Amino acid sequence: MATNEANHVIWHECLVKRCDRNSLNKHQSGLVWLTGLSAAGKSTIAHAVEKELHDQGIRTYVLDGDNIRHGLNSNLGFSPEDRKENIRRIGEVARLMADAGVLTFAAFISPYREDRDTVRRLFKEDNFIEIYVKCSVEECERRDPKGQYKKARAGIIKNYTGISAPYEEPLTPELVIDTEAMSLEESKKCLIEYLCERKII
Ligand code: ADX
Repeated sequence: MATNEANHVIWHECLVKRCDRNSLNKHQSGLVWLTGLSAAGKSTIAHAVEKELHDQGIRTYVLDGDNIRHGLNSNLGFSPEDRKENIRRIGEVARLMADAGVLTFAAFISPYREDRDTVRRLFKEDNFIEIYVKCSVEECERRDPKGQYKKARAGIIKNYTGISAPYEEPLTPELVIDTEAMSLEESKKCLIEYLCERKII
């Protein structure tokens, strides 16, 4: 849509607000953003935490890079511009989900600091928790669950994060989960404890 057309779209105030949904749910909503290299453990941690919270009666959802790229973002590749657009769309979707009262987990490599900060700004009045799922390239390459590091080394996959494309570590994430030092159980516990401390759940 042309910008001048968009200028004539007027925001409609909702009668039911996020805080009303949060009181109904008896927990807060927000966005838990997991960033890190492929195979660092982002999705595994997000899904494990979601399962535990769901079993406790908390409304949750996981937005996962691999899955979203099959649908909403299937037209995007891995150039810096496409990754930016990938993260921008996810940020907007996550904001709608947080508005709907859902505690949302986003597991995306999201290699650029600036793109992650754009999402943080979108959530300025909301809960936004950036978690750096830390794992060295060497270890990710050893794990290589999808055989992609091998293909990236062979030049079959281009612009592969950690091999032929950059990853910018978060400077001040809310939490660091080092999956070379912590088991899945420990990682899960650490994240859930943090959400309790922040009184989100
Ligand atoms: S992001 O960089 O734009 O945040 P995203 O998390 O959506 O990436 O997708 C990452 C997934 O895409 C990886 O888990 C991997 O399976 C797959 N993938 C395919 N090509 C690449 C690539 N060039 N770099 C990184 N991941 C890739």
